[in-house]
Amino acid sequence: MANIVAVNLGARSYQVRIGPGLLGDISAQISPLLRRKRVAIVTDETVAAKHLPGVLQALAQGGIAASALTLPVGESTKAWPEFTRTVEWLLAEKIERRDLVIALGGGVVGDLVGFACAVLRRGVRFVQVPTTLLAQVDSSVGGKTGINSTHGKNLIGAFHQPSLVLADTAVLDTLPPRDLLAGYGEVVKYGLLGDAGFFDYLEAQGPALARYDADVILNAVTRSVQMKAGIVERDETEEGERALLNLGHTFCHALEQATGYSDRLLHGEGVAIGCALAFELSQRLGLCAQEAPSRLRAHLKSMGMKTDLCDIDGDLPGAEALLALMAQDKKVIDGKLRFILARGIGQAFVAEDVPPASVVQVLQDALRR
Ligand SMILES: NC(=O)c1ccc[n+]([C@@H]2O[C@H](COP(=O)([O-])OP(=O)(O)OC[C@H]3O[C@@H](n4cnc5c(N)ncnc54)[C@H](O)[C@@H]3O)[C@@H](O)[C@H]2O)c1
Repeated sequence: MANIVAVNLGARSYQVRIGPGLLGDISAQISPLLRRKRVAIVTDETVAAKHLPGVLQALAQGGIAASALTLPVGESTKAWPEFTRTVEWLLAEKIERRDLVIALGGGVVGDLVGFACAVLRRGVRFVQVPTTLLAQVDSSVGGKTGINSTHGKNLIGAFHQPSLVLADTAVLDTLPPRDLLAGYGEVVKYGLLGDAGFFDYLEAQGPALARYDADVILNAVTRSVQMKAGIVERDETEEGERALLNLGHTFCHALEQATGYSDRLLHGEGVAIGCALAFELSQRLGLCAQEAPSRLRAHLKSMGMKTDLCDIDGDLPGAEALLALMAQDKKVIDGKLRFILARGIGQAFVAEDVPPASVVQVLQDALRR
């Protein structure tokens, strides 16, 4: 039995089903959505090698015809060339508005395919089948889709909700430890932004999750999705509360750009470092006690996660240059820096007009650590 989290968005409502073994049951899971027994799958090379044969077999057993496009692995895939290729392939496959596209992979595949489906024939339905922890707890839910630009991350995109999310927690068994821990950065974020009790749980159970404990993974994914669904229901297009999900992301996006969206820093690793910096900044601005950033850093370190800027291999730009990268962030309004800051663990809020000098100070100290 899967855990089911509903995302209630009127005509765009859908379910997130979470549990081990859902992929083997994919035909039954998606059948009610199909108007003809045919789907197009987009995935990446690594996921294709590990999970595509099983998915194709399960679909065939259900009498569902499927064709698949396999994209290169990595963040650099999330850009115009592979996006164009995907849209053209879907057209060549004669995918129609009544058809269903399956995004099988991590956040890179999910974001790109979701955006392709948003623009293909002015909107085609799609199912998110997230295969990384990050994608299961975050990117597959909520309808943010898009690709990167040379000007920055996620700058081209659309809101396009999936018709269903199937989060098979057993597929995480093949995820390398570094990617599992990177996804954990987004899990911790939920505790930090709005559920101190969940952070307590993670402090106790995080090490078991890092050992791929199935029950802890199921609980962590379910609680994370519940939190994300609630926020998305209240603020689908990020007019207010949804911005809280960007805790740590203003720092993260600058660091990802500074490291060229490369293997030097995975997105979830940047989120973890960014959350630590956001709590540091909150403390410097007198918003929270020193205990909060200290506790967070202690937890990230105990999990063996990247916590400080010095954990990123290679040189980084100086504090002023990192601040300049933040100015491109989507959260900048009228040139003013908006950050998600916190009054304590589980108490994040949107802070308008954060003094740039304080940000520079925090970054300078972090670069010296
Ligand atoms: N849309 C949103 O709301 C949202 C939210 C958070 C992050 N994101 C985006 O998500 C992306 C990061 O996602 P990600 O961390 O999943 O990266 P990813 O998609 O690059 O996947 C990470 C790596 O894991 C591999 N992989 C995936 N599933 C696997 C499995 N089961 N077994 C073995 N290997 C597997 C992939 O091939 C890849 O090498 C970023 O582009 C980020 O901007 C989007």
